[in-house]
Amino acid sequence: MAILSFNARKIDRLADHKSEMLVVPLFIDHILKDDLSAVDQQLAGPITNTLALGDFSGELGTHASLAGNSSLQRLVLVGCGDATLFDRAAQRKFAQTLSAVMSKGKAKQATVTLAHLTIDDDDLAYLLEDIGKHTTLACYVYGATIAAPKNPALLKKVTVNMGIRLTAAKAKQRLAAGQAIGEGANLARHLGNLPANVCTPRFLSKQARRLAKGYPNVKTSVLGEKRMTELGMGSLLSVGRGSDEESQLIVMEYRGGSAKEAPYAIIGKGITFDTGGISLKPGMKMDEMKYDMGGAASVFGTVQAIADLALPINLVALVAAAENMPSGRATKPGDVVTSLSGKTIEILNTDAEGRLVLCDALTYVGRFKPREVVDIATLTGAIVVALGHHATGVFSNDDELANALITAGTRAGDRGWQMPLWNDYQQQLDSRFADVANIGTGGAGSVTAACFLARFAENYKWAHLDVAGTAFLGNPKGATGRPVPMLVDYLRSRAGQ
Ligand code: BES
Ligand code: MN
Ligand code: ZN
Repeated sequence: MAILSFNARKIDRLADHKSEMLVVPLFIDHILKDDLSAVDQQLAGPITNTLALGDFSGELGTHASLAGNSSLQRLVLVGCGDATLFDRAAQRKFAQTLSAVMSKGKAKQATVTLAHLTIDDDDLAYLLEDIGKHTTLACYVYGATIAAPKNPALLKKVTVNMGIRLTAAKAKQRLAAGQAIGEGANLARHLGNLPANVCTPRFLSKQARRLAKGYPNVKTSVLGEKRMTELGMGSLLSVGRGSDEESQLIVMEYRGGSAKEAPYAIIGKGITFDTGGISLKPGMKMDEMKYDMGGAASVFGTVQAIADLALPINLVALVAAAENMPSGRATKPGDVVTSLSGKTIEILNTDAEGRLVLCDALTYVGRFKPREVVDIATLTGAIVVALGHHATGVFSNDDELANALITAGTRAGDRGWQMPLWNDYQQQLDSRFADVANIGTGGAGSVTAACFLARFAENYKWAHLDVAGTAFLGNPKGATGRPVPMLVDYLRSRAGQ
């Protein structure tokens, strides 16, 4: 499945190394350390000449491409900025820059030399993960529904020169971990970017079965509308009522720990298209509602990544999939439905459908006796107003869990920010005709949405990630793969890694 291969080793004499592209990190002090000046001399001074012309500053985020010779065909100088400010964030930016250069060029093979970077071993290990992850992300090109895809990435092989620091085995392991996270995020991007006439609830079920085929420790089962009716999932079922596509509750179980260990649980909102239903959305940018399964997409990406990483935990992953359409059979504003929990819900707005599919999944997940539950959903436009496209909204009934997710996101370059879940907001959801209404009456739309979910997640530690601003971007249009890096980092830290 992997299209890229990563290798790490110590290259004894870089000047004698053969490569289609040598990536050379340089700080703003322009000092060519150790064997880099030997490389420069061997090639008759392209680096010193470029620096003398002032064509490369060394600032973070910049690069310069130079021609080499027949054995070192290209040299790419990549800016590292000020050496005293080269922290994790700067290192990540550096990794992103070199990944973009390697993936966009003509070279099929590239060598990155890190031997002269004086950062500690821990940072170096994370830098390797960043290189594995960002190179994998940079090589993703959408082609699924294009007859002749343009500009596929040519890069196939990346070699990292480690000098004598981390062992080659350790370095390769960290590159592979980064690659697994990148591929998980790319799977999420792929599913998110697919149009809604391809990516239906049943298509998502097929993806789950495909994961189970590819990984012996992943098991998949799917509940269709018949089974969900028997169980009493009146809330989830109300959302797909107007659609010709059958709703699905998809269950994936990953076994990496012992049988008696309680699983972690993740639940994704999988609305494969959100028209708003009878509470129809305006037409402008409605195409973007194909991304309303971004939470579900991140669940698939996370399952794949943790299976690739062989994390020693158990994980239950649910996807609540439905298509929200208007029709003569569709749910109407004012309809009252009975959820799996037994609580009745007055559906005042059929466009607040994400919480309706999630609440039944939150009840259903209880039967797995989860240690903690995280749901991921493109739930509200209001979270985009609050946090823009930078941070995922984090809501939780447990501050330690919220902090674990936020810390994981910061480490993974996929940040979240905690939002309140105070009881003060709950009264907005009071209904005269049911136990709860599906929309609030005042402001703070992303908080009242989370408050609705909280009523169905009272029996375990739970967090809700509102990714409406982070799972996809409008310009250029595309799925980002977020919050796969945050979720994988969170699960790795829960696994003690
Ligand atoms: N899928 C939308 C939320 C959304 C909006 C995601 C923009 C991505 C970008 C969700 O189902 C929705 O329609 N929410 C409504 C809730 C409202 C009716 C209470 C919203 O945010 O307007
Ligand atoms: Mn909606
Ligand atoms: Zn929606």
